[in-house]
Amino acid sequence: MSSCPFHQPFFPQPLKNKASLFFTFFKKRRSWLDGLYERSYTMKMGRVKMPGLDLHVINQPDLVHRVLVDEVKEFPKNQLLGHLLEPLLGESIFTTNGEQWKKQREMLNPSFEMARISHVFGLMNDAVKEMSQGLHANGSVNRLDIDPEMSYVTADIIFRTILSSRLDREDAVSIIEAFSIFQEETARTAMRTIFKVPQWLWFLTGESKRIKAGNEIRDVLSRIIRPRYDIALAQKGDERDILSSLLQAVDSDSGERFTFEEILDQVAMLFLAGHETSASALTWTIYLLSLYPDIQEKAYREVISIVGDGEFEASKIKQMRYVTNIFKETLRLYPPVGFFARENTHETTMRDKTIQPGASIVVSPWLIHRNPDFWDNPNGFDPDRFNDPKSIEKDTYLPFGMGARICIGASFALQEAVLILATILRDYKIQLQEDFSPDVVGRLTVRSANGMLIILTKREGR
Ligand code: HEM
Repeated sequence: MSSCPFHQPFFPQPLKNKASLFFTFFKKRRSWLDGLYERSYTMKMGRVKMPGLDLHVINQPDLVHRVLVDEVKEFPKNQLLGHLLEPLLGESIFTTNGEQWKKQREMLNPSFEMARISHVFGLMNDAVKEMSQGLHANGSVNRLDIDPEMSYVTADIIFRTILSSRLDREDAVSIIEAFSIFQEETARTAMRTIFKVPQWLWFLTGESKRIKAGNEIRDVLSRIIRPRYDIALAQKGDERDILSSLLQAVDSDSGERFTFEEILDQVAMLFLAGHETSASALTWTIYLLSLYPDIQEKAYREVISIVGDGEFEASKIKQMRYVTNIFKETLRLYPPVGFFARENTHETTMRDKTIQPGASIVVSPWLIHRNPDFWDNPNGFDPDRFNDPKSIEKDTYLPFGMGARICIGASFALQEAVLILATILRDYKIQLQEDFSPDVVGRLTVRSANGMLIILTKREGR
């Protein structure tokens, strides 16, 4: 594996021992990662029990498979998450269960078929070209925080591919800020709910800020969707983007279409799930590339050998195996969705332990991806481990989830990420700014709390 003499990828040092509940409450309000301790990374199963909460963390692959794949009906999505995300996402596919989820998934699936993803490549590429022009405008040595740039370009891609609408900078800034408030406050609301802080005390907290932030994002989306929804009711729409296919989607049993509120819920969810996760992963990939110049050079050479100075195309992006492996390895070290929460519906047994109905089950790719029983050098960065997918132990790599609830946008995300990375790699050398170290926090996604300060230096001839 390529090594870096000065840096190792940032890994928050776990506590030596399990923290007290009081400590956990205050620490985890900032980030759930702060409550992890050394054994969290090696245990097969762990439990957090307190009044009103019975939570089991499972790291053992066959149990993970059982919960996410074999017994998906017995372990539906945890309702707390749905409740927390409701001000922003309403009743969207990310949090619904049972028949409601099934219908939503059937109606969304056609929008994410491979053909359509290749079809939206041109729209993605337009957004990435604009990102690249913006970076070029700042001269040959550009010192910047890359994190907001990644949030902007991924949000712009979602706007263009789902809504055929460009995201202007002003709307972007307000949406991205609103979402950052929503994430931060949601982590606190989660802890208040879990620790049963009485509702009447919530007015002292950021709850109203959280609801307002959710509404602000929905208002921007609603302004764009409303006119198209009204037109689609009157006539058959065109097929230009993902919204068109949502507007035309028909429930196979009832023959009904999505209502306006349902469309708004799904678009808000696609916006959130589609840009926040990708932005997080891209920022961490750029960080890792900055730490490993030799890996960066090899990736650059791959990009040049496939496209040279020419245009990017969907088929060429698929050929970029090494850049793809770099992205996959980043998703292992910094999985944007750090944990999945499910609810147990029936008394059952796991590793000789009785799990009560109503107990929460947590599967954490963050923990599983760094477990030394499954991975050599688990905290090191080694894209080559993905050269042979068979060498990866079954059910130990799950950045996109598994089973019926697997990410619908995984192919979309891979295509977009490789395109953005290839565009940056072709034009620039990437370095980390002197003395900068990221501060990883686990909120709805795994982000760097202090951004990602880098230096982009234009390559000769670009
Ligand atoms: C690197 C980028 C991404 C990552 C790491 C990611 C990860 C995930 C994960 C882990 C889940 C399942 C969560 C669970 O089981 O509890 C999920 C679900 C989902 N993701 Fe993604 N995602 C990414 C990008 C996207 C994109 C680009 C879209 C759409 C444009 C998207 C749409 C969705 C949807 C709709 C679901 C819910 C699926 C269902 O429950 O049926 N994601 N994603």
